[in-house]
Amino acid sequence: MVEIEVNGLMTYDRAVVKLPAQAAGEIARLYAPPATSGTLQGARVTRAPFGTTPAGEAVDLFTLTNAHGMEVRTMTYGGIIVSLKVPDRAGLLGDVVLGYDSLAGYLRTTPYFGAIVGRYGNRIAHAQFTLDGATHHLPANDGANTLHGGTVGFDKVVWDAEPFWGDSGVGVAFTHTSPDGDQGFPGKLEMRVTYTLTDQNQLIVDYYATTDKATPVNLTQHSYFNLAGDGSGDVLQQVMWINAGRYTPVDSALIPTGVLAPVAGTPFDFTTPTAIGARIAADDEQLRRGHGYDHNFVLDRAGAELAHAARVVEPGSGRTLDVFTTQPGLQFYSGNFLDGSITGKAGHVYRQRNGFCLETQHFPDSPNQPGFPSTILRPGEEYRSRTVFAFGVSP
Ligand code: BGC
Repeated sequence: MVEIEVNGLMTYDRAVVKLPAQAAGEIARLYAPPATSGTLQGARVTRAPFGTTPAGEAVDLFTLTNAHGMEVRTMTYGGIIVSLKVPDRAGLLGDVVLGYDSLAGYLRTTPYFGAIVGRYGNRIAHAQFTLDGATHHLPANDGANTLHGGTVGFDKVVWDAEPFWGDSGVGVAFTHTSPDGDQGFPGKLEMRVTYTLTDQNQLIVDYYATTDKATPVNLTQHSYFNLAGDGSGDVLQQVMWINAGRYTPVDSALIPTGVLAPVAGTPFDFTTPTAIGARIAADDEQLRRGHGYDHNFVLDRAGAELAHAARVVEPGSGRTLDVFTTQPGLQFYSGNFLDGSITGKAGHVYRQRNGFCLETQHFPDSPNQPGFPSTILRPGEEYRSRTVFAFGVSP
């Protein structure tokens, strides 16, 4: 049995964990009055310039540090998590996410390293969907399909940001308004995404949005993790547990067929902790289509409470990552398209499977899949979603 502590609550594998509700009011209270830096019992948040976009927009970098020295650096461009330093078994801090040292790399080319992804994370088939009788056309940026919100998704905009600190930790609140018609999506979408670093070595991501017209919304976080440390090679020995008895098989363009297939007896069964690489080269049609794991898992969960979705253990360093989410799905992407063409932080060359993503989300192509949980946000409704990335060490 795996024991986990979240905000002082003890839980066990597969248990549902409730964190205190983080309401809009709390966020507002936390970051009033606005300031450029602040501290909380040894934890701190600072803000510094990080460069300028080609359009002349200033980009800022926030550094969140908790009482144990865990550090998250994130910038206003794309809400990108630039680095995430967590201790190993010996207490040594290591950066466990892929990316670049400076803004220039992210502006040049990036497979969504560390970014906030939207308006619709993952794929929408044939770059279109029909909602309330009207068909909306989106940019096709992944063959015939739309990936991660189109050609200029939320990963490529400069967000407004304010630091905050309060009882739950130190953090940064990003806000952005996506105008009506942005990338073909209907409705003006007003968003707030917060990163909170707690003294329990958790990074809490809270998403909030409202719209003035019905629109699909599927926001996620696209960090590429390597718990052995950025630049340490592939992640194939890292042991994955995913709380999902089913997944959504895909066609050759990685669009779900609509079936929720059982994982039992397939290489997609991570209900027992298994090394990522143990079955990745198996003779399996779905693995061939994804070039490895690039699939949405249907989380086993009750209701919309925060639930344990996945756990990864890196045997060498002992670092562990537990993912909790209110979302129904989890895209496990094993970095299949990293091909050595990107040189990232400290000259590290990123080759296939040098990192993995665990993207908490609704299922891909939901706007075209009536059998999937709805992603439609309507005027008067509030989009609220929470994901917790909890770091630790195994003995
Ligand atoms: C997708 C992959 C894609 C990657 C980078 C992931 O979310 O599932 O297919 O290659 O993002 O774009």
